Amino acid sequence: MKKKILITTGGGDCPGLNAVIRAFTKAARRNGNYEVWGSYEAYNGILSDPVEIVKLTREKIAGIHVKGGTIIRTTNKGNPLEFPVQNPDGTWKKINRAQELVDKIKAQGFHAVLNIGGDGSQKIGLALSKLGLNVVGVPKTIDNDLTATDRTFGFATAVQIASDCFDKLVTTAESHHRVIIMEVMGRDAGWIALYTAIAGGAEICLIPEIPYSIDKIVDTINRRYHKGRGFVNIVISEGARPKGGSVYGKKAVIAGDTHIKYGGIANQLRYELEEAGSKGQVRATILGHIQRGGTPTAFDRILATSMGVKAFEMMKDNTFGRMVSFQNHALTSVPLEAAVSKYNFVDLDHYLISTARKTGVSFGD
Ligand code: F6P
Repeated sequence: MKKKILITTGGGDCPGLNAVIRAFTKAARRNGNYEVWGSYEAYNGILSDPVEIVKLTREKIAGIHVKGGTIIRTTNKGNPLEFPVQNPDGTWKKINRAQELVDKIKAQGFHAVLNIGGDGSQKIGLALSKLGLNVVGVPKTIDNDLTATDRTFGFATAVQIASDCFDKLVTTAESHHRVIIMEVMGRDAGWIALYTAIAGGAEICLIPEIPYSIDKIVDTINRRYHKGRGFVNIVISEGARPKGGSVYGKKAVIAGDTHIKYGGIANQLRYELEEAGSKGQVRATILGHIQRGGTPTAFDRILATSMGVKAFEMMKDNTFGRMVSFQNHALTSVPLEAAVSKYNFVDLDHYLISTARKTGVSFGD
């Protein structure tokens, strides 16, 4: 009898998820002893009654590696460890459905789960694995904030999209002698902003790891205007914050979504610069979810495809409780515990911080 494998994609979507699904399923089909299924919206598909799962046939996965998003959909509000349930009075409570989930997955005849996701999803994978489920993790995030892997697919695509947008903002900033601020995603890690600032040649790059001073930014802007270079392009990470200040975000209003919702710091900075006497008209653009959409770059497709194949090899060898990891241009795996132990902030000694500084990028510090 064929072994049944269940794939889940959890958390925010990310270009490359479909490439993992396709590669894993192809490798499994070629082996001949496996049947691959997907659970819709991470584990919600299994927790639903009736279950919402789909058999991943050749037709279902054909050509999907070039498509953004995930064909089995995703969610950030279905954590089985803190599952949101509405009380009769309309308020919400959280219940732990992890054991029920493991039992249901086993009752459906699944031998193992391929858990594709970021930090939050890997934590869920670890908890399920401790309850006796065979789990293999594949890391994903556009934010590049996982330490246990040198790279995640989706990041290169997000940087490419942000850089393309940045280039467009440079020409309009130059034409109008304006200061244009572009806000990118990344949560508490400044990787997307840092890479985009270097790729695009930004004058100023503001990241969470280096709190900024408005006076310093105004100085940098005004000095450039005095020198006759009358326009400035700034990249700001959504999680950036002023010295002594806090992050610009709001608690999620949807039950089950525990993440602070970032977004909007660019507008805040715009008004602060205007008040502080910055030269030039200031404008702000918030890229938002455009950074997660559309076709993955070739690099991300290749990384995602190779991770899908590696994950299948791990399943075949009964190597469970581990996450695929890309290290030194090769694929290996790490225990799920290691995968979730530390957040990958931009290290201030990172060579790209010095590359940026030495090419005239100010971090507003
Ligand atoms: O983690 C990926 C990410 O896109 C972050 O960069 C961003 O802060 C967050 O997800 C947005 O989440 P949501 O899709 O829930 O708005």
